[in-house]
Amino acid sequence: MTISINAYAPDFVAEIGDVDLSQPLAPMDIDAIKQAFWKYGVLVFPEQQLSPQSHIDFAQQFGPIEMDRVLAMENAAPRLGSAFADISNLNGEGKIWDKDSRQRMYKEGNKLWHTDSSFKYQPGLCSLLYSTKVVPIGGHTEFADQRAAFDALSPEMKTQVRGLIALHAIEYSRRRTGFSNFDPEESKRLPPVPQLLVRTIPESGRKSLYVASHIGEIQGMNAIDGEALFQKLLAHVTQRQFVHVHRWRPNDLVMWDNRCTMHRGTDFDDMRFVRDMRRVTVSDVANTCEQEGVAVPA
Ligand code: OGA
Ligand code: MN
Repeated sequence: MTISINAYAPDFVAEIGDVDLSQPLAPMDIDAIKQAFWKYGVLVFPEQQLSPQSHIDFAQQFGPIEMDRVLAMENAAPRLGSAFADISNLNGEGKIWDKDSRQRMYKEGNKLWHTDSSFKYQPGLCSLLYSTKVVPIGGHTEFADQRAAFDALSPEMKTQVRGLIALHAIEYSRRRTGFSNFDPEESKRLPPVPQLLVRTIPESGRKSLYVASHIGEIQGMNAIDGEALFQKLLAHVTQRQFVHVHRWRPNDLVMWDNRCTMHRGTDFDDMRFVRDMRRVTVSDVANTCEQEGVAVPA
């Protein structure tokens, strides 16, 4: 049986059915999934029974998996191996986290519009998030299409943003939420990195904005003008017509293209309900400047 593809949002989000990702896939099915992924940017695979290993195995079809976690303490008491980002509101003992825990403060940043790992020199290519426990109210994930948003820019704006380089850092996005207590080792490990503000997606040839709340500076602009341009682009990309809301069911695997989409988590009562998800992120092939032959600023 071949896989089925049903678009939720034209050229942006599709549901993939008639596939069991816990089993080795036929080359034809892998190919069909890849083609759909490059076309849409967000794929939803409902009703999957994924072990950690089958989750990793599927992700590896798209490239090497990121193994470095941002917070040192995430490695200290891992519920999951280092191939996983723990996207839950649980502590190392599997209990709902403390109200003032560092983990909780840090993960508040997932509610800002962002794309995963743009703050790494070699950024994230795609992420695969699997739900095991969902909450009855809220806790949706919203996605925004940065390709459609680029296409809709005025000719003047396209000219203004083309070739611009932004500096991304995890500390920049966390500063926006009020979180600042990175330890010196964490800060040193993750200095600001340059990324193009407009990039080309090789598989589709489409141009995309590459905006994220990890941006803290735009090269060649003063701090006020850079922030104003960031806010203007953020407001543009996250307009309703570019946004899709995913309402989680247990055992959904959702994968998104970090190169051309943004996402954010939405509120839920995290001191009352357990929401448990795990994420694997695949690395992109190179820094965005390198990919487009733009000299990487020092
Ligand atoms: C992520 C993320 C948002 C959410 O897993 O990268 O940002 O809704 N998640 O949990
Ligand atoms: Mn994320």
